Formats: sequence, structure tokens, C-alpha cells
Amino acid sequence: MLGLRLIARTGAEIRRDVAAVKARDPAAQGVGTVQIVASWPGMHALLAHRVAHALYGAGARAAARLIAAVARSVTGIEIHPAAEIGDGFFVDHGMGVVVGETAEIGDNVTLYQGVTLGGTGFATGKRHPTVQDNVTIGSGAKLLGPITVGHGAKIGANTVVIHDVPPHATVVGNPGHPVRVEGRRPEGPDADWIHLPDPVAEAIKGLSSRIATLESTAHAPENGGRRSVDGADGSEQPDGRSNPAVGPSPAGG
Ligand SMILES: CC(C)(COP(=O)(O)OP(=O)(O)OC[C@H]1O[C@@H](n2cnc3c(N)ncnc32)[C@H](O)[C@@H]1OP(=O)(O)O)[C@@H](O)C(=O)NCCC(=O)NCCS
Repeated sequence: MLGLRLIARTGAEIRRDVAAVKARDPAAQGVGTVQIVASWPGMHALLAHRVAHALYGAGARAAARLIAAVARSVTGIEIHPAAEIGDGFFVDHGMGVVVGETAEIGDNVTLYQGVTLGGTGFATGKRHPTVQDNVTIGSGAKLLGPITVGHGAKIGANTVVIHDVPPHATVVGNPGHPVRVEGRRPEGPDADWIHLPDPVAEAIKGLSSRIATLESTAHAPENGGRRSVDGADGSEQPDGRSNPAVGPSPAGG
């Protein structure tokens, strides 16, 4: 009886996993269920994780770790057996994905290759992200620490996230910052991360233009038409060294 229930539950889980692949992977359109189960690395990693997670919960931790290690070698997807993963989880492509021990993943979450749900150091306890339902995390994104990624959020490829992400936000960049929340650009004085002022560049520009003004004043005919400031005219000095020739300001701007 228990065996039949287990088979029925496993069958239902696999059907949901295959449905997630078909819904979210354009390359899976028109591909049969058997082929998807046999050749999608995200499916293999997820199936292996289900077994490893159950064994881990039952106290068979060595066996659980062994299964996780084999799945990692085959798929390039490393999921700690203790990680909590909801329904409809889909890892596209696989390779380089790491899901840490205390990570919690809700339903219908998609990860692309190279995603890390990791810790920030050697802290113990809850130290990995919590990802709520319907979140998509782009390739190469790093989510670090016990942060929460809200429902329906999108994390851009190569984003580094170290703070909580509000629900239905799109977060990009390093450090990750919201560029859309509920479909709208965030407003307020700190909202434009892309066009922040650069005080050092502004100061260098100011100095450069001041030098140019001084040079043109020194070269003016009313000042004797000298071609140089401080003797920088290319003529020979008494010690035999030639002065540097006058040219465009190297200060740039
Ligand atoms: C983040 C992402 C989900 C955004 O999708 P979206 O909701 O359609 O949002 P938009 O394309 O309108 O982008 C919103 C803004 O973020 C910028 N942006 C999008 N993705 C970005 C990224 N990865 N890094 C930096 N900026 C990014 C856009 O240029 C746009 O900027 P703007 O506000 O100046 O116009 C998507 O760009 C992404 O990175 N998806 C991951 C896909 C992936 O990893 N595929 C791998 C397949 S193998």
C-alpha cells in the first residue's frame, strides 16, 4: 500500500517537473516526456535531490551526500541534500549551479546555468537565500547570504544580490539593484543607479580645463607670445636636457 502511494506520488511529481520544463524551456517544445526525463540535466538533478533529501531527512546522511555528489558529477548541478525545494523547480542547462545547505526554494522557480545560492562566509545556521514562488534567476547570478527574494522577482544574468529583493521586482547589476518594481521604474533620489555622479572624474575635468585656460593665457601675444609655461618649449636647458615639447594636455578630460 505504502509502495503504491510512493509510486503514485513520484509519478505526479515527475509529471509536474516535465510540465515545468515544457512551459519554461523553448527548446523542449514538441519533445516527448520520456526524452525530457532522459536527457534534461535539470530533471536528473531534481530527481536525485528528491531521493537525497528524503534520505537526509531519514538520517541516512552519508548515502544522501553520495547521491548528491554523483548527481553533481553527472549534471554540474550541486544541490545540498538538506536544501528545501518546492514544486515546479526547473534548472535550465545546469552546469555550475550551486544550491547551499540552508537554501529554501518555493514553487515554480527557474534557475539558469551558473547560479549560486550561497553563503557569504563561514557563518553557521541559516546562511543561504530563501527564494519565494515564481522567481527567475538569470545565468551567472550570485545570491549570497540569508536574504529573501520575493514572489515573482526576476534576477538578471550575472547579478550579485546581497540584500532582500522585493516581490515582483527586476534586479540587475553588481551590486544588484531594482530597475523595475511591479513593472514600474523605482522612483526617488537613490533610484537612478546607472547615472550616479562621479566626483573624482568631475574634479579631474575641472583641473584639466583650468590648465588649458592657463596655457592659452600664457601663449597669448600680450604675454610675449611665449610658447611655454615654465620653460616647457622644447629648447635646451643649461644642463643639456631638453624641455618637454608643448602638446595637448595629458590630463585628458
Ligand atoms: C533581468 C531580465 C529578467 C529582465 O527582463 P525584463 O523584465 O524583460 O526587463 P527589461 O529587459 O525591460 O530590463 C529592465 C532593465 O534592466 C536592464 N537589464 C536587463 N537585464 C540585465 C542584466 N542582466 N544586467 C544588467 N542590466 C540588465 C535593461 O537594460 C533595462 O534597463 P533600462 O531600465 O535602462 O531600460 C533579463 O534581462 C535577464 O537577464 N534574464 C536572464 C536570462 C538568462 O539568464 N538567460 C540564459 C539563457 S541560456
